[in-house]
Amino acid sequence: EKAPYPHFMLKEIHEQPRALRDTLRGRIEGGRVVFPELEEAAFHLRECRRLFLTACGTAFHAGLVGKYLLEKLARLPVEADIASEFRYRDLTLGPGDVVLVISQSGETADTLAALRLAKEKGAKVLAITNVVGSSVAREADWVLYTWAGPEIAVASTKAYTAQVLLVTLLALYLAELRGTLPSEEIIPLVEEVKFLPERVAQVLAWEEEIARLAQALKEQEHFFFIGRGLDWAVAEEGALKLKEISYIHAEAYPAGELKHGTLALITEGVPVVALATQSHLFEKMLSNIKEVKARGAWVLALTADDQAVAGETDVCFHLPPGNPLLMPAVAVVPLQLLAYYVAVARGCDVDQPRNLAKSVTVE
Ligand code: F6R
Repeated sequence: EKAPYPHFMLKEIHEQPRALRDTLRGRIEGGRVVFPELEEAAFHLRECRRLFLTACGTAFHAGLVGKYLLEKLARLPVEADIASEFRYRDLTLGPGDVVLVISQSGETADTLAALRLAKEKGAKVLAITNVVGSSVAREADWVLYTWAGPEIAVASTKAYTAQVLLVTLLALYLAELRGTLPSEEIIPLVEEVKFLPERVAQVLAWEEEIARLAQALKEQEHFFFIGRGLDWAVAEEGALKLKEISYIHAEAYPAGELKHGTLALITEGVPVVALATQSHLFEKMLSNIKEVKARGAWVLALTADDQAVAGETDVCFHLPPGNPLLMPAVAVVPLQLLAYYVAVARGCDVDQPRNLAKSVTVE
């Protein structure tokens, strides 16, 4: 039942603080991440030299966040591949390798085929899924559940933020297991993770303002989303949300790539959503923002505590401050709301976008 919300998507966007609390439940003890379900996996996860990661769509975008965090915190090289590519590549995959598979439904045909291929080649499979008893859950060697609750809307929202949270916990868990980060650095991060549900709730309060913005943007036919590092991963998800439910052409780019072609598309009035939450990349993002502004773009920025960006943009949202590594789960929320309200303003069927199905069980 979606009442009092007009759509399941909006209901699920609002369920995110609760969903994230459920993802966290029982997984943090005394400043450490605990995963009793990985007891048998620990040996493999400690010894493996690299990790393969595969998924489709939104789940893949959560994987991109995971790739970045696993490399940063657990010093684990991660090869991330869309499942329909993974399964047809001649992978150098074998015993000793671990493949991380991410799937909300646990039934996506390509993801399941990638899982089966990995097992055939002798690799171990760790799955992140939302559905207990799903094919992915049954066939993987080890499973971490997101516990986001049933997701009905075709466009994934709470499953994505729960996946992002879970890969963050996994990276912190592996950082301890593999001894790549001293506990003085792990503990404050783990403690800060507990505030994510609250930060998401704070950002949800921007809903009315975003709905008004959406009204003003509803006639646009092209959108660009730019960011660097983790912000680029979130930009990919923001663009996907917008195109799948509003049918507006949206593209995400690593901001440093603009010069290599995309800048040609930035003309007077083109909306650019710029994510600038990563402090070590902030100056670089600021110059990219100036570049698109100089071509007449209309810029909506999402930043954390950096004030400088506000002066350079048309609209600027300040996210609750925090460690940049923990920004994705919060930064995506205004982008979900923007996609939702633009789609509603355009009269689209938000919960059942054309040509799409919730669970893609055929190739
Ligand atoms: C987009 C969306 C899809 C799914 C993709 C994978 O909002 O929901 O891109 O993320 O079809 O689905 P799962 O996670 O069920 O494997």
